[in-house]
Amino acid sequence: MIDLHSHLLPNVDDGSKSLRASIRMAKAAVDNDVTVALMTPHHMNGHYVNHKPDVIRLTEEFQSHLDNNHIPLQVFPSQEVRINGDLLQALDNDDILFADESNRYLLLEFPDDDVPTYSTDMIFQIMQRGITVEIAHPERNTKIMSTPSILFDLIEAGALAQVTASSYVGTFGKKVEKFAEQILSHNLAHVFVSDAHDLPNRRYELAEAMVKVEKQLGKAYQQLLESNAEAILDGNDVTTLLPEPIVKRKFFSKF
Ligand SMILES: [Fe+2]
Repeated sequence: MIDLHSHLLPNVDDGSKSLRASIRMAKAAVDNDVTVALMTPHHMNGHYVNHKPDVIRLTEEFQSHLDNNHIPLQVFPSQEVRINGDLLQALDNDDILFADESNRYLLLEFPDDDVPTYSTDMIFQIMQRGITVEIAHPERNTKIMSTPSILFDLIEAGALAQVTASSYVGTFGKKVEKFAEQILSHNLAHVFVSDAHDLPNRRYELAEAMVKVEKQLGKAYQQLLESNAEAILDGNDVTTLLPEPIVKRKFFSKF
């Protein structure tokens, strides 16, 4: 399987804290059927800056360590970019890494509790450059949880979304799990990713998520998620299903 989102590079963000931890995480990835992983350290999120040339160099170094340890995992450089006022300038400065070599798919994250009001306008400007935005973990964004139409509007406008496998299998709690299920059943996400960090009780759960989605939404849907990850990595078209709005349940009272 292909994992488009992980924090395996050591000591660059809130992911792996050491090379030893990175190697351990890489072994866990392989045990979870991952063969190719994008290294997506946080970039421009207010805490971490990981410039393109540094990520490329560190990913090459990490690949050498993996090869020396006979771990059959292929890694490629990328970034998880926080939406911010300097993003268009960073694109102009060629300091942004994409999911693919043709610079088509950009992994973009919002703050955990907000979707800034300028987001729609900025995403539109990014997409005008021929770039497709891939939204990171919408199922854990509290603003999107309370107003799911924000996600629907972005997907309808041509953005893609990733769901973290752990969210879908319940590791972040029932509420996130249920919202992840809704996102998928309404065709508002296109791939599963690990978003692996070196955290206690946080495992690779891509394989588990694939088993669950096959049960809930069928084999064809599961295969779509898997083939979309490959398409994004290769810079090819993804297969999208018609997005449907999530209608929040209304609570009726007798009075
Ligand atoms: Fe991440």
